[in-house]
Amino acid sequence: MAALKFAGLDDTDSEEELPPGWEERTTKDGWVYYANHLEERTQWDHPKSGKRKRVAGDLPYGWEQETDENGQVYFVDHINKRTTYLDPRMAFTVEDNPMKPNVKQKYDGNTTAMEVLEGRDLSGKVFIITGANSGIGFETAKSVALHGAHVILACRNPSQADEAVCRILKEWHKAKVEAIALDLASLQSVWEFAETFKSKNLALHVLVCNAAVFGLPWQVTEDGLERTFQVNYLGHFYLIQQLKDVLCRSAPARVVMVSSESHRFPYIKNNSGKLDLNLLSPSKKEYWAMLAYNRSKLCSILLSNELNRRLSPHGVTSNALHPGNVIYSSIHHNWWVYTLLFTLARPFTKSLVRA
Ligand SMILES: NC(=O)c1ccc[n+]([C@@H]2O[C@H](COP(=O)([O-])OP(=O)(O)OC[C@H]3O[C@@H](n4cnc5c(N)ncnc54)[C@H](OP(=O)(O)O)[C@@H]3O)[C@@H](O)[C@H]2O)c1
Repeated sequence: MAALKFAGLDDTDSEEELPPGWEERTTKDGWVYYANHLEERTQWDHPKSGKRKRVAGDLPYGWEQETDENGQVYFVDHINKRTTYLDPRMAFTVEDNPMKPNVKQKYDGNTTAMEVLEGRDLSGKVFIITGANSGIGFETAKSVALHGAHVILACRNPSQADEAVCRILKEWHKAKVEAIALDLASLQSVWEFAETFKSKNLALHVLVCNAAVFGLPWQVTEDGLERTFQVNYLGHFYLIQQLKDVLCRSAPARVVMVSSESHRFPYIKNNSGKLDLNLLSPSKKEYWAMLAYNRSKLCSILLSNELNRRLSPHGVTSNALHPGNVIYSSIHHNWWVYTLLFTLARPFTKSLVRA
């Protein structure tokens, strides 16, 4: 420092430069704060300019934010395989003006998938979306395909899957979309789907586990399990197992579980607090369609959390989401009561493009 001082090089009039002993850091949600190592304290205001700042925009491609055991945020650059405590967006901070808080959210319940993706180039990214021939799965497949992604529609009904592919190609003839048969009610079919996909030697950047059934009468699959449990949860679990290696090789990659708010209502433990497998795939006597659906959605969230814990060190993250309540799709078609409910609620609930 002394040498710099005498050379006049530490004498900068930049009010952005930090005095010795200070370090600039970011919080999880992008606020910049300042750590004074000499006095062992932190503050929000820049020690010279007194300004408060936030980082702007998303992390660069290939970067991910993590938190260490002390709660400090750090950043992983998956492409160059390095880790740093310095936010790579620190060079692009914006000033925060406490007098004029920006209360407008970037996205809300009215935002469509196309709006979220505006300006994004997804070319080179490979997506698999289960149940992509209709509803939320179709809207997701269409939106990412129209932004350049290569999308595999994983559907149980080949003619409906081909029709969905045609509908996307009609919007953009250069879209990279194809269908591969997948029946989540059959472990054999899941395995065959994974083998077909792997034989294409593609990467896999995003696996969207979207397919589901709701309100079914009690049925047993060819694998001897209750159908709602197998389609909504176990089939996806097995699919992820089959594709785990491809996801890890393609990192940064992610799994997205389309769950539901209704996961909050059921229990899956017995009286002694242990996981009760009989509750997951119940007998006809103990079956209630709504409860089976809610349990399968709870299982999806638990799976997503555990996957994230195990795979995020390998660059594969997992998140579960709730798309919104009573969205008018074909999910209600198994019982007229649900169809009536969804129809009555339709004017007040989100449309598919917003889900
Ligand atoms: N709609 C809502 O209000 C709502 C609310 C919360 C959560 N969600 C979740 O959102 C996701 C999408 O639902 P959605 O509303 O878009 O309903 P949807 O239009 O009925 O979509 C469900 C998809 O799953 C597919 N599927 C069903 N059984 C399958 C199987 N055995 N193998 C492979 N695919 C199968 C269906 O294919 P077929 O066309 O061949 O049946 C369909 O493509 C689901 O996970 C659902 O639980 C929806």
